[in-house]
Amino acid sequence: MSKPTALITGASSGIGYELAKVFAEKDHDLIVVARRQAPLEALAEQYDGRVNVHPLVLDLSKARGPQKLYDATAELGLQVDTLVNNAGAAYQGRFADMSRTQIHNLLALNMRCLTDTTHAFLPDMLARGSGKILNVASVVGFQAIPGMALYSASKAFVLSFSESLAEELRCEGIRVSALCPGLTRTDMVTDLGTDQYPGSELIMGDARSVALEGYQALHNGETIRVPGLLNQLAVNWAEFQPRWIKRTLAGIAGRATFAARNG
Ligand SMILES: NC(=O)c1ccc[n+]([C@@H]2O[C@H](COP(=O)([O-])OP(=O)(O)OC[C@H]3O[C@@H](n4cnc5c(N)ncnc54)[C@H](OP(=O)(O)O)[C@@H]3O)[C@@H](O)[C@H]2O)c1
Repeated sequence: MSKPTALITGASSGIGYELAKVFAEKDHDLIVVARRQAPLEALAEQYDGRVNVHPLVLDLSKARGPQKLYDATAELGLQVDTLVNNAGAAYQGRFADMSRTQIHNLLALNMRCLTDTTHAFLPDMLARGSGKILNVASVVGFQAIPGMALYSASKAFVLSFSESLAEELRCEGIRVSALCPGLTRTDMVTDLGTDQYPGSELIMGDARSVALEGYQALHNGETIRVPGLLNQLAVNWAEFQPRWIKRTLAGIAGRATFAARNG
């Protein structure tokens, strides 16, 4: 019997790389996508003989990236049973200090690419009456985060979009889950310097555990999964607070962080 195929965007490092390994261990063939070829080839080598791994090197922030991805999988004659929208970009700092290029890249990758990729692969899933979609959101999608204004807004989009889709598709055989990690040790966090903040080690999750939780949530039919007890407590606490309290506290923390970073 042929194995199910999982397509994972942003599989060259971090959470996406670990998600690819989890899906391979759970006996899925893989289509792995990113801009860097070497880590994708390494995945293919690692699982050679056990599952089929198809590396696709693409810049998904480009307007035609998602369509090129769909066309490439069609050319390979592959059916995508599970779509994992993981590729993402982050920015930490004042919104006013972002360049237009940074703004457009973040929006393109976190929102447009995820939307277009889902829209490209969904009709085939609907025609088959089966399919799974895992969207990587974030705990910051649950509330406003001054100092990460655009990133948190983009993840709020992912969370809301995933919840709506999960209900829209519930009776059509398609599962949609949003994975909402908290701070997780990956290149993204190192690049932002978030791992240097006092106490960050205490709340830092590891990409392997986050990936395992994403896989479980999708296969258990959970619409939202927040990995880690501390993250769950924070999200649940925040759910019952008035928006102004959450916003004010986040503002105080954001301004203090900004002041500490800038001496
Ligand atoms: N780390 C955290 O604390 C955290 C917390 C919550 C949510 N998340 C989310 O988790 C997801 C994965 O992030 P990560 O932390 O694992 O960071 P990461 O290690 O930097 O991974 C980002 C992945 O996205 C790919 N990517 C970036 N730009 C791309 C582009 N233009 N086209 C195609 N692929 C691109 C990267 O590959 P290439 O560079 O090879 O293209 C890489 O594989 C993101 O959606 C992020 O927002 C992370």
